[in-house]
Amino acid sequence: MRIAMIGTGYVGLVSGACFSEFGVNVVCVDKDVTKIEGLRDRGEIPIYEPGLDQLVASNAAAGRLSFTTDLAEAVRSADAVFIAVGTPSRRGDGHADLSYVYGAAREIAAAMDGYTVVVTKSTVPVGTGREVERIIRETRPDADFDVVSNPEFLREGSAINDFMRPDRVVIGTESERARAVMRQLYRVLYLIETPILFTALETSELIKYAANTFLAAKITFINEMADLCEKVGADVHDVARGIGLDGRIGRKFLHPGPGYGGSCFPKDTLALVKTAQDAGSPLRIIETVVDINTRRKRAMADKIIAFMGGSVEGKTVAVLGLTFKPNTDDMRDSPSLDIVPALQAAGVTVRAFDPEGMAEAAKHLSGVEYAENAYQCMDGADALVILTEWNEFRALDLARARTLLREPVVVDLRNIYNPEDMEAQGFRYSSVGRRQIG
Ligand code: UDX
Repeated sequence: MRIAMIGTGYVGLVSGACFSEFGVNVVCVDKDVTKIEGLRDRGEIPIYEPGLDQLVASNAAAGRLSFTTDLAEAVRSADAVFIAVGTPSRRGDGHADLSYVYGAAREIAAAMDGYTVVVTKSTVPVGTGREVERIIRETRPDADFDVVSNPEFLREGSAINDFMRPDRVVIGTESERARAVMRQLYRVLYLIETPILFTALETSELIKYAANTFLAAKITFINEMADLCEKVGADVHDVARGIGLDGRIGRKFLHPGPGYGGSCFPKDTLALVKTAQDAGSPLRIIETVVDINTRRKRAMADKIIAFMGGSVEGKTVAVLGLTFKPNTDDMRDSPSLDIVPALQAAGVTVRAFDPEGMAEAAKHLSGVEYAENAYQCMDGADALVILTEWNEFRALDLARARTLLREPVVVDLRNIYNPEDMEAQGFRYSSVGRRQIG
């Protein structure tokens, strides 16, 4: 089998590398010459994702994975062409911007040769697959092809494992011929008994949004519950465990925090809200989730300021973690993008450290001092704020932190420390949905 992967962003590169690991011949295509040259000539991975560099290197060396800017050449010899280009939120109205997807469809149509399965891997609103089908037919009335929706459910930081050992694979198409090609591509997953769900095109497209918005709602539920816990003296982790052990609820995605961020949840919740409104069937739960999460990120700065005594003008805050989650350099819709500017607006000097995200953060945040490590970050600061739960922040030398900080104030928005331990170490400690110390 040969496939072309159009778009070597996060989804395209991970999926391309993983398919090649499955034994498929993969050509990854991108318009960005520098990116392709870096990948092809120097094995340079444009994103940070654990394990991806070795996976790319070994499959490229084995001749199963290659990189090109020549879309037509890659498509011509492919049994299946995956569209994995970006679908950012359109400025102004929150709809997904599909211009890259449709542009790719036109180029694919012009180049395809023989029966070709065209697969949308990017997260695309319901109806996009049909439009891709229409565009291809319009561009090449003689083309022999089927359009399939095959959404990804990869989490950044564990994307390779999620691709190799998924909970399920969803494949949306009415064509038996296309299903056979997809079965062949995912052959390895049949061997490990992964459920492979075949649905209609539109259903598959909606499953992706339904999954992401459900998870966003689950996080938002526990975040609001955390706020209530603080008010009534309950512990949100015990609540999460107490409800999560009920198999109907499930234990995952009940970890409270500063609000969800990242490349998917904020964009997908917004896009589904718009789709539902346009369809005359509004999703009021998700509309509320979007609203709560947006306010929450801003409210976190107020929480920090209040815990620091209310007046923070001229103070320095050490921020550990800027990315939206650990093990990534991704800053998209990270809570830090709301929290840091709000602290600065209140007169705070923000000094930050993030193991992988500082270069990216510098493009989005201004006036931040960047430290070389966690301890340099907190040296002389009036408070320590934990925004992302990187492993190295879970194991800080607290006695050292206590001596470096000007005031023993810690605001832990990811709940990676225990209130009891922090109390014993002499800190004033605030977290999310738990007893506050001091
Ligand atoms: C998500 C989906 O999990 C994945 O299936 C989809 O394909 C893309 O979007 P990702 O954005 O990489 O993946 O990260 P994820 O681990 O799901 O976290 C998303 C956000 O929710 C992060 O900001 C994270 O901090 C937050 N989160 C997650 C919580 O606040 N609490 C939780 O319990 C889980």
